[in-house]
Amino acid sequence: MLLIGIIQLVSSTMMLDEEVTLELTVPQVSGHEFVSSMNINGIQYMSICECVSPELTEQEDIKCAPSIITLTQDIEAPGATLEEVQEKLETGNYTFVNVYSSSFRCIDGRITEPSLGSFGGDLGEFALALLVYEDLSGSRLDEETIRLYLTEYLECMEQESFYWCNDDDAVGKVEKEMGIEGIDFYNPRQDLEEQLLELLMHPDGIGDLHIKNMLKYPDKYSIRKEAVELLVKVFYKILWNEEDSMREELYFEIYPGSHNETGFLEVRTMEDCFVLEAAPLVVPREGDKDNLSLFVHHLDAVNIKRTQLSLFFGEKIAKNQDGITADKFLSRMKHHGIMFMDVTGSIIAGNIPFFTANFEN
Ligand SMILES: *[C@@H]1O[C@H](CO)[C@@H](O)[C@H](O)[C@H]1NC(C)=O
Ligand SMILES: *[C@@H]1O[C@H](CO)[C@@H](O)[C@H](O)[C@H]1NC(C)=O
Ligand SMILES: *[C@@H]1O[C@H](CO)[C@@H](O)[C@H](O)[C@H]1NC(C)=O
Repeated sequence: MLLIGIIQLVSSTMMLDEEVTLELTVPQVSGHEFVSSMNINGIQYMSICECVSPELTEQEDIKCAPSIITLTQDIEAPGATLEEVQEKLETGNYTFVNVYSSSFRCIDGRITEPSLGSFGGDLGEFALALLVYEDLSGSRLDEETIRLYLTEYLECMEQESFYWCNDDDAVGKVEKEMGIEGIDFYNPRQDLEEQLLELLMHPDGIGDLHIKNMLKYPDKYSIRKEAVELLVKVFYKILWNEEDSMREELYFEIYPGSHNETGFLEVRTMEDCFVLEAAPLVVPREGDKDNLSLFVHHLDAVNIKRTQLSLFFGEKIAKNQDGITADKFLSRMKHHGIMFMDVTGSIIAGNIPFFTANFEN
C-alpha cells in the first residue's frame, strides 16, 4: 500500500553532463500575492498574479543547481530495471521550471514531453483542494460555486494554463455510447453537449487514472464524489463555451495509444530547489511506443503547488474565516493528498517497480 521509501534495494548515482542552473529571483510571497521572475538560458521570465499588484520588489539571485541524480529502487517487481531507468535519466536534458508558474500534467506514461507530473494534473490538485474546502467548511459545493471558484483561480493563477487529460480509450467509449464517430472533444456540437457531459463524468469516459479511480471507488478515497464530478463538468463546460474567456486558460490533452508503463518514478529535489520553487522537467516516455514508459510524479513540486492552492483557498475563498487559514488548509491538503496518492498508486502501479530520483548537489 505505502509506496514511498520503505526499503532501499539498490541505488546508483550519476553525474549530470552539465550542471543544470536556474537563476531565479526569489518569488515574493505575501498573502496571496505572487511575483517572480527567473532567468533560464539567458531569457528573463516574469510573472505576476493579475489579481494583485506587486508589493515587494527586492530581488536576490540564487542558484538551484543539482549536479547529481541519485536513483534508488524502493520496490522490486517485474518491469523496468534500475539500469533501464538509469539509462533513461542519464540521457535526459533537464530544464528547471518555477513550479508556481507551471502546469502539472497527469500521471501517464504516454506523455512524450518534458513535464511535471501530479495525480490528475492541475485538475487533480484543484479537486483535492475542493474536497479539503468542503471538509473544513462543512459545506457541500454546488456546480455554480465550483464554477465560481475555478474561474477565480483561472483568473489569478500564476501559470499560463490549467491542465487536464483524457485518452483515446475513454473518449472512444463515449463515442460508442453516443453512436457517433469523430466527435471534437475540444469543442463539440452544441446539441451533443448535454449527453456528452453525462458520459464524460462517468469513470468509463475518463482517461485520467486518478480522477477515474476516485469516481469509481469513492469509498476507498473516503470522498464525496459529487464535488469531483461537478468539477469535471465545469471544466468541460468552460472548455466548450466560446463566450467564456476562461476557456483560453484551459489546456486539455487526449493521450493516444495504450498504457505500457513498467515503472513508477518519483522525482525529488533538494532543499535549495524547494526554496526556489523549482523542479526539473522529466519525460515519461521518450520517442515512440517501444521506449521505456514510466509514471512520473514530482512529489516535492506538488507540495510547492499545494502551498499556492492553500493560500488561494484560505485567503481568497475562505478569507481566513471560520478558522480556515492557509496553514491549516495546507496541512489538510498534504494529509489527504498522501492518502489519495497511496490509493491511486496502489491501483495503477501496485505491481510494478517503484523508483526515486533525487536531484542533488
Ligand atoms: C537540451 O534542451 C535545450 C532546450 O530545449 C536544447 O536547446 C538542447 O539542444 C538540448 N540538449 C540536448 C543535448 O539534447
Ligand atoms: C527510443 O527508441 C528508439 C528506437 O526504438 C531508440 O533509438 C532511442 O534511443 C530510444 N530513446 C530512448 C531515450 O530510449
Ligand atoms: C512496451 O514497452 C516495452 C519497453 O519498456 C517495449 O519493448 C514494448 O514494445 C512496448 N509494448 C507496446 C505494446 O508498446
